[in-house]
Amino acid sequence: MGLDQTAPERAAQKPQERLAAWLSGDMDAVNLLIRDRMASEHAPRIPEVTAHLIEAGGKRLRPILTLAAARLFGYDGPYHVHLAATVEFIHTATLLHDDVVDESKQRRGRPTANLLWDNKSSVLVGDYLFARSFQLMTETNNMRVLAILSNASAVIAEGEVLQLTAAQDLRTTEAIYLQVVRGKTAALFSAATEVGGVIAGASADQVQALFDYGDALGIAFQIVDDLLDYGGTDAVIGKNTGDDFRERKLTLPVIKAVAVASPEERAFWERVIEKGDQRDGDLEQARAIMARHGAMEAARQDALMWAGRARAAVQGLPAHPLRDMLADLADYVVERIS
Ligand code: IPE
Ligand code: IPE
Ligand code: MG
Ligand code: MG
Repeated sequence: MGLDQTAPERAAQKPQERLAAWLSGDMDAVNLLIRDRMASEHAPRIPEVTAHLIEAGGKRLRPILTLAAARLFGYDGPYHVHLAATVEFIHTATLLHDDVVDESKQRRGRPTANLLWDNKSSVLVGDYLFARSFQLMTETNNMRVLAILSNASAVIAEGEVLQLTAAQDLRTTEAIYLQVVRGKTAALFSAATEVGGVIAGASADQVQALFDYGDALGIAFQIVDDLLDYGGTDAVIGKNTGDDFRERKLTLPVIKAVAVASPEERAFWERVIEKGDQRDGDLEQARAIMARHGAMEAARQDALMWAGRARAAVQGLPAHPLRDMLADLADYVVERIS
């Protein structure tokens, strides 16, 4: 459980690495379970696609949240591992579907499954993983966690569909953006932390605090993901930057820049986002307009505010090294570059 590390070794690590080190035994069990359940005896395309994505790694942030929440409340049964694997299966299923919807070409530093195979394989293998996630969670025999995770799955899909209709629409407000990210991203973060607390028998107030933490952390995380889509580098994020611009998504920095646009800038946004008439140099132009208005920095400040809320949410939980790592993780997701 990371107890073999020296204090300076721990201090040098990022919060996520400290959590992973502390929870390494549990995480090994989660990875084994994922490997075991991603297979299919009957359709070889399934293990091909899942192995491609799962072996590329990924940060495993959501299962770490579930394990941390359960261990924070002293859980010592087997089911936090099932729940953590369930959460990562749901995440992986949504990534397969999301890359079809977004027509993305790179994920986790590899070509996307939709590019290597096709959209049909991605959609169907995503469905398979969703179904596998439900099988896994029923093994816990706990109706409350089934309710939380099945609800989160519906809310994620709603968020993605809401985004579909908000894209290309310059009237999209920050409130609608918040609704989208709460659904498509934060719902799984909050479910991940909540089920960890529930399985461990935490009190209603404590479960609420875990939910609030996951919700705020997920929102901060997605705001930063959206910033990295403009300001990051492909090699570091393992995805192609500029995907959101190409997909004409109204993400937070764009919404902020549109709100204060000059008439010429407004005409630019109408052309590239509403009409979808995008030319060479437009992405750079969008970046320049956002920089002129401090829109990226303003969005970063919003992410920091949500990180602060996440940190505050766990303050009332029992004193525990995992609680402090979760609090630090909130600040870290805003600093992250990958
Ligand atoms: C990607 O999530 C989808 C978003 C919510 C932005 P992650 O950035 O956690 O993806 P992996 O699992 O580390 O690849
Ligand atoms: C991620 O939204 C949400 C889900 C995967 C459900 P994005 O479309 O911004 O995620 P990336 O950037 O493709 O990872
Ligand atoms: Mg996407
Ligand atoms: Mg993105």
